[in-house]
Amino acid sequence: MTQKFFTVAPMMDWTDRHCRSLHRVLSRRARLYTEMVTTGAVIHGPRERLLGFDAAEHPVAVQLGGSDPTELAAAARICADFGYDEINLNVGCPSDRVQNGRFGACLMQEPALVGDCVAAMKAAVRLPVTVKCRIGVDDQDTEEALNRLTDSVVAAGCDELTVHARKAWLQGLSPKENRDIPPLDYPRVYRLKQARPDLPVAINGGIRSMEEAHEHLRNVDGVMLGRVAYHEPEILLSVDRELYGEEPPVADAFEAVEAYEPYVAARLAEGVRLHSMTRHMLGLFTGRPGARAYRRHLATEATKPGAGLQTLRDAVADVSRSDVRASQCVEGLAAVG
Ligand SMILES: Cc1cc2nc3c(=O)[nH]c(=O)nc-3n(C[C@H](O)[C@H](O)[C@H](O)COP(=O)(O)O)c2cc1C
Repeated sequence: MTQKFFTVAPMMDWTDRHCRSLHRVLSRRARLYTEMVTTGAVIHGPRERLLGFDAAEHPVAVQLGGSDPTELAAAARICADFGYDEINLNVGCPSDRVQNGRFGACLMQEPALVGDCVAAMKAAVRLPVTVKCRIGVDDQDTEEALNRLTDSVVAAGCDELTVHARKAWLQGLSPKENRDIPPLDYPRVYRLKQARPDLPVAINGGIRSMEEAHEHLRNVDGVMLGRVAYHEPEILLSVDRELYGEEPPVADAFEAVEAYEPYVAARLAEGVRLHSMTRHMLGLFTGRPGARAYRRHLATEATKPGAGLQTLRDAVADVSRSDVRASQCVEGLAAVG
């Protein structure tokens, strides 16, 4: 049986290096993805700022946005030199800016070009080259669109495909709406895996719990979680044990904060603002008594100049250490009321 795998989705503005370092404290095995970086930025931009990452983040994949095979090959080479473990091509982002650049989800309409992009990157680096796509765009037939894209990238040597199991609608929906409104079609992704038993296939979109993840893993090789992993990172604590048969690196969210502290201290010493890191931690204690006070404390105090580790510790002190989660309902009601 092949090893099932778990990944945290690439998310612009969210999965930066601080976020990934936090996630790594919760799971040694989950594969982490960068935010999408365009080939132009990689080739011409401030590389260290865009691509630099902490050695502890491995295994970490960089996601590229682009559609020019030569530029993608050059960008892939640069990323390989930075030490990334995988190069991923974005064929799923529907934003206008991306469409103008003729990449992202609109590439679902140009499978041959995507194949050329993958082939160019495969020739340029020794790393796995993977693709993240949708099941189709606009009025495309999802059977045909996804099959054609898959055929093309597999022929080019694509090592793994992650499919966000809904279409992207290129006109009329914002990127955010495009993550919720087009209906999910998980069976379409299962059929792809059945038709392509040798291709590692991961499913993405709307997965809310480890229970749901396990259901999907009966039909595909991997699961990619985005918003839930970001908003409730404690879910990552189950990944190592449930998928890889290993003990998690820490027991709970409290230990996770302690394990993250040295990273926070090192960045503070470099001049990084506390808030740049704590903004990714707001959901860490979701469901525990005191979680709202913790969030409020961080939201107001961590943005202040000079905020440091003590600010974080003070926020955590608001959270009850007893493992009673019944207050979830109470907190939920308070949030509504
Ligand atoms: C804030 C945000 C930013 C995102 N940025 C990217 C991105 O840069 N590249 C990408 O392929 N997908 C991006 N996505 C989509 C996610 O990777 C994922 O496909 C989507 O959220 C569905 O998974 P989920 O329901 O588990 O969140 C983003 C999603 C969010 C919420």
